Amino acid sequence: DRHLLGLKDISDSEIVSILDRAAYWEQQPEKVHRTLAGNFVANMFFENSTRTRFSFEVAEKRLGAEVLNFTAAVSSVQKGESIYDTVRTLESMGIDAGVIRLKPIGVLPELAAKIRVPLINAGDGNNEHPTQALLDLYTMRKHFGSVRGLTVSIIGDILHSRVARSNLWGLTKLGAKVQFCAPPNMRAPELDAPYVSIDEALKADVVMMLRVQLERHTTGLISSAEEYRAQYGLTEERAAKLAPHAIIMHPAPVNRNVEIDDALVEHEKSRIFTQMANGVPIRMAVVERALR
Ligand code: CP
Repeated sequence: DRHLLGLKDISDSEIVSILDRAAYWEQQPEKVHRTLAGNFVANMFFENSTRTRFSFEVAEKRLGAEVLNFTAAVSSVQKGESIYDTVRTLESMGIDAGVIRLKPIGVLPELAAKIRVPLINAGDGNNEHPTQALLDLYTMRKHFGSVRGLTVSIIGDILHSRVARSNLWGLTKLGAKVQFCAPPNMRAPELDAPYVSIDEALKADVVMMLRVQLERHTTGLISSAEEYRAQYGLTEERAAKLAPHAIIMHPAPVNRNVEIDDALVEHEKSRIFTQMANGVPIRMAVVERALR
């Protein structure tokens, strides 16, 4: 299967082979290769993105592919064209692979069953964001040498988070222990991970903060940013309690001074911009896998 729809349904050995291939690409001194020369890859974003969209584009260009960027906001989606018809349209023009970000969940497996070219999930609703979790696993493996045996606290808006879900599947498969910390109204009880207090969460090897996804909240889940920061934010005071070897992660974009203090975003323990850098070799490995 050359699609990458999520980490829930791929094996641990496939995950490791993607991480290993990303390490290979990271070590290559030349920026641009001819590996995918002559292949057309379409980046189809039906939901906004900065990191995922541009790191896929950089990854595809570094592999020598021809890149098409589709943005729903300036497309015939605005005239009512469906996701399926849009993807079929690009397929009929001869694309070889598609990277796709969608709001609705459950649409991607249906699309993948009908479309002949491989599809890569760039985030679907609150379901999965597999390349984000892969770059997170890569970042942890690089820092600690191995993911096995690590305790990872994922803190914040679990309910709306595809990053939390993909990380839960990926980390568990590679032998890490995942624990969540969230206000009661931002929990996802169907996910198989324990909830711990913020003080307990801070004892972990990795503290992964999540963005409060205000755009996905139907009603006011938080009373105020100050209140959220006081109860669940990674403040400078809380960061001082982290273990000496611990690292801080966040998929970004960041709400500074809500889930994480401004001064911690580029703190020595923070790997936030390293995560973004690691997104490029991870996406090179994933796009190459789709087209090999
Ligand atoms: N982390 C992440 O997916 O960021 P974007 O929404 O900017 O792609």
